Amino acid sequence: MARGLFITLEGLDGSGKTTQIRRLAGWLKKRFPGEDPVLTRQPGGTETGDLIRTLVLDSRSSQLAPMTEMALMFADRAQAIAEVIGPALEQGRIVVCDRFTDSTEAYQGGGRQLGSEPVLALHRLLCGNLQPDLTLLLLPSLEVSLERARRRNQRAAEQEGADEVRFEQEQDGFHHRVWDKYREIAAREPGRVVLIEGDLSLDEVHDRIVEAVAARLVSAAS
Ligand code: TYD
Repeated sequence: MARGLFITLEGLDGSGKTTQIRRLAGWLKKRFPGEDPVLTRQPGGTETGDLIRTLVLDSRSSQLAPMTEMALMFADRAQAIAEVIGPALEQGRIVVCDRFTDSTEAYQGGGRQLGSEPVLALHRLLCGNLQPDLTLLLLPSLEVSLERARRRNQRAAEQEGADEVRFEQEQDGFHHRVWDKYREIAAREPGRVVLIEGDLSLDEVHDRIVEAVAARLVSAAS
């Protein structure tokens, strides 16, 4: 059976990925009535992954060494591929994943300054070098993203007692490096990564996403 379609969304915290994934899923369901796209996220998406997510995002894990952090992201990802992503793609389904290995390259490789090479090597070793068919990279300006992420986390902490602020607490230099690494990935892999830049409205971003997905579906079918 033909492999399904693997779409990932990437971007800084507060880039609006979550809203856009919801809208993309709605569009996919309308366009392919029989199709039920698999939506998942990293870290998380499996029971094991949710435990790892708590461990890496909780502000109490502030002593986590960068190498440990990278290893945990890959532990989460290997489990998600084994349990969710791999089987769904084998069944020919569309999988939409909120963050994938580009996040590790941007945050641990760039932000934590571990470099791209160990990330790509671990990806080959632990993830069978699985590549998305399409990656939508949302890069509104750094200032807008950070402000949105801080407000959202404050709300989540107040309303649900959620504590997922480890990355937002980082200094601006960290986020700049994440941003630069994302741009480097987009320049290196223009065939896979569609860069959606600038402070666009929700509708404008959605339109660009749908355009990119539709184009990929056409090329996958031919
Ligand atoms: P998430 O809730 O996905 O944030 P957002 O909704 O803003 O995307 O939080 C995941 C956090 O984990 C985010 O700050 C990025 C970070 N992260 C890494 O540092 N490396 C990784 O490999 C992944 C998947 C996420």
